[in-house]
Amino acid sequence: MTTTTETYGVDPTPTPLALLLLGREADPNSERGVECPGDLPAASDPDLVERARAAKAKLGDRVFILGHHYQRDEVIEFADVTGDSFKLARDAAARPEAEYIVFCGVHFMAESADILTSSAQQVVLPDLAAGCSMADMATAEQVAECWDVLTEAGIADVTVPVSYMNSSADIKAFTGKHGGTICTSSNAQRALEWAYEQGQKVLFLPDQHLGRNTAVRDMGFSLDDCVLYNPHKPKGGLTTEQLRDAKMILWRGHCSVHGRFSLDSVNDVRARIPGVTVLVHPECKHEVVSAADMVGSTEYIIKALDAAAPGSKWAIGTELNLVRRLAKAHPDKEIVFLDRAVCFCSTMNRIDLPHLVWALESLVEGRVPNVITVDPQTEKYAKAALDRMLALP
Ligand code: 13P
Ligand code: SF4
Repeated sequence: MTTTTETYGVDPTPTPLALLLLGREADPNSERGVECPGDLPAASDPDLVERARAAKAKLGDRVFILGHHYQRDEVIEFADVTGDSFKLARDAAARPEAEYIVFCGVHFMAESADILTSSAQQVVLPDLAAGCSMADMATAEQVAECWDVLTEAGIADVTVPVSYMNSSADIKAFTGKHGGTICTSSNAQRALEWAYEQGQKVLFLPDQHLGRNTAVRDMGFSLDDCVLYNPHKPKGGLTTEQLRDAKMILWRGHCSVHGRFSLDSVNDVRARIPGVTVLVHPECKHEVVSAADMVGSTEYIIKALDAAAPGSKWAIGTELNLVRRLAKAHPDKEIVFLDRAVCFCSTMNRIDLPHLVWALESLVEGRVPNVITVDPQTEKYAKAALDRMLALP
């Protein structure tokens, strides 16, 4: 993945996980290892599709395969359900009869699935290196320190944490413990409305863009109502006065994929394709979202294109696997990727057919590989925050 310069600030250094695109070494700064125990089938094996089919058929109802919209086609083909992170969390919770949940997505999604499923079920992530650089941008220690800063400023009592689904179980637990909720890109506005009924300020973690875009674009806040808390600076780089005046305290995190889209990408596509509708994900920068015609989660993007008139023209600002699939599914519409540069989520892409075959065949052989487990104490509070989200009107 590439880092970009942006108006609201990004870390100039890529996360260690982002550098482990193809490697098999360990990541010292993450809880996730990147070794795949056992032998992976070769990607060139011509029988992979047949092997995946056979293993899935042998497992029958014992296995339930979830596929996020950013997964590769070769993996999506085997998913029992596909969805955005909100839909997949609900789908996982609604399958108590499946012994194994194979999560084709990233680590924080598999953790959420473990939290929302029963202790009799096991969640498998086919490649443990499928993390999320955004989730890694907020650690439990940094967030605890931030809360101390808010406490010292005398505002912790009136601040409600709202954490994006794209965060670790520890951050979700922090959120639950402090009376907050989780949100996804499909329900961020409802989550924020709920939070402002509970308190006067919100600490929004870890995606500054989703927080800012929802507050300013959807809820009528001004940019001045928002401040950016930088965990790498003393006291977040903010004065007590700035913290006291703010309604929205945004964590300085971002998505390395959506952060690549720029105002130039929007202007360029409008010049190239007259009449194009620009539709982007709310993880994009505020200036991109402000210049777009429509904004929404992956599920929203899919529905918008399903409902679009034949002959209509679209430029989509989200992950490339999904945009390519949508272009293929709608040959009667012109659908292009918003940016000229290729933009896959490299960690989502780590789940490929060899890893899926390896995971399914291991289950057939009676071994449960790459189990994602959240400890009971973390689970208790993280579940409280997730349950609040699932109960939002
Ligand atoms: P949604 O699928 O919830 O829109 O999220 C996008 C994303 O970046 C997931 O990692
Ligand atoms: Fe994380 Fe962005 Fe990849 Fe989603 S698309 S998993 S937020 S890096």
